[in-house]
Amino acid sequence: MINLTFDDQHVRSFVSNDEISLFQRELDLHRKNIYQRKGKGSDFLGWVDLPGSIDDDLLAQMEADATKIREQSDVAVVIGIGGSYLGTRAVCEALSDSPFPNHTNAKRKHTELVYAGHHLDEDYLHALLSWLDSKSYSIIVISKSGTTTEPAIAFRLLRSHLETKYGKEAAAKRIFAVTDASRGALKQLADNEGYTTYVIPDDVGGRYSVLTPVGLLPIAVAGHSIRELVKGAKMMAAHLKKEDSIEKNPAASYAVLRNILYNKGKTTEILAGYNPSLTYFTEWWKQLFGESEGKEGKGIFPAGVSFTTDLHSMGQYIQDGLKNFFETVITLEDTRHRVLIPNDKDDLDGLNYLAGKRVSHVNRMAAKGTMMAHLDGDVPNLQISIPAINENNLGELIYFFEMACAISGYILGVNPFDQPGVEAYKKNMFDLLGKPGK
Ligand code: PA5
Repeated sequence: MINLTFDDQHVRSFVSNDEISLFQRELDLHRKNIYQRKGKGSDFLGWVDLPGSIDDDLLAQMEADATKIREQSDVAVVIGIGGSYLGTRAVCEALSDSPFPNHTNAKRKHTELVYAGHHLDEDYLHALLSWLDSKSYSIIVISKSGTTTEPAIAFRLLRSHLETKYGKEAAAKRIFAVTDASRGALKQLADNEGYTTYVIPDDVGGRYSVLTPVGLLPIAVAGHSIRELVKGAKMMAAHLKKEDSIEKNPAASYAVLRNILYNKGKTTEILAGYNPSLTYFTEWWKQLFGESEGKEGKGIFPAGVSFTTDLHSMGQYIQDGLKNFFETVITLEDTRHRVLIPNDKDDLDGLNYLAGKRVSHVNRMAAKGTMMAHLDGDVPNLQISIPAINENNLGELIYFFEMACAISGYILGVNPFDQPGVEAYKKNMFDLLGKPGK
């Protein structure tokens, strides 16, 4: 049994049952191509069976290295960009004990994850290097190709800082590389220097790689259960494989509905969350769908908002602006902690009608009220709900979106596993920088 629920009641006035049913035969074909690894980009369908095939020894090795990193370091710098970074950050920010610095569950030793190599901001790197002067730290460098400019520059800087701080030999014990099995500059460097190395499987692309060591190693370092994460993904994988009808398969329903809406002119999808800890989950989702579908002059533009915060900035547009979008709303049935609204004898703020109620109750009513208002404002909205944020449910959510994205990309008629457009900026940048050998 999966925990995730998918609710399409707020698109039913835009999409008829007949329109949905028309996709069943096409869905059967796409599912066959996915499970038999025959569709477009079939060399990159390794993620499909990944949750069920992760080796117990590999999990144990990552847990052991995570413990080692936690024992020797207050900080782990995770270097990577795109698919080599967003999954980790999505999961770790969602599961973080607290959004406030140095405020964490004291029962376990806390190693803080910080990120580098996901942009080229010099001031950020300057601040990071000077902050690390007084920290004990390790580096997890992640790059499938091993040649991406942003993480390569960050790694060169941080490696030099680490070697100056600890000496070359001791620094090498603090560097963990996650990269291709045999190719790329990072692989060669890791072999030469004797870094602990983890492999990104050949048949798993960056944005589908969070359930490989790309995500699992740093997530374990942050103190989260990678076994529970994988378990949730495995449950979802089994469920989606078993259910072949659009109606019973939530990933298929989502994929079909978003394509029907797209064909009706809803060319943007806004992923809306009501919990700021999910902000990076939205970033991960944006990459997954944007890089998978935006090609050949087609594709839904994936946007994100964090409510209720953004109801006070983007709410006006969503309610009353151009109607070229639909929303997908992620809601939680419960939060991890309870905060009750207190009674106030003067009640000058008029909030006593909420006294004794949980803040999450108000948040839930805000979500419900907003979904109804947006529907009234001609914005169809889909709802995806999980009982609470934990590793298991995030694992479900990750696999749900991965499968939905693959099906949706196939319905759209593109290869959801390549990203040829990403090369255009690199070519110009290398020309401008005078990269030799170009
Ligand atoms: O999804 C993708 O393939 C990309 O976002 C890559 O993950 C990103 O460009 C980083 O590539 P690499 O891991 O090769 O450094």
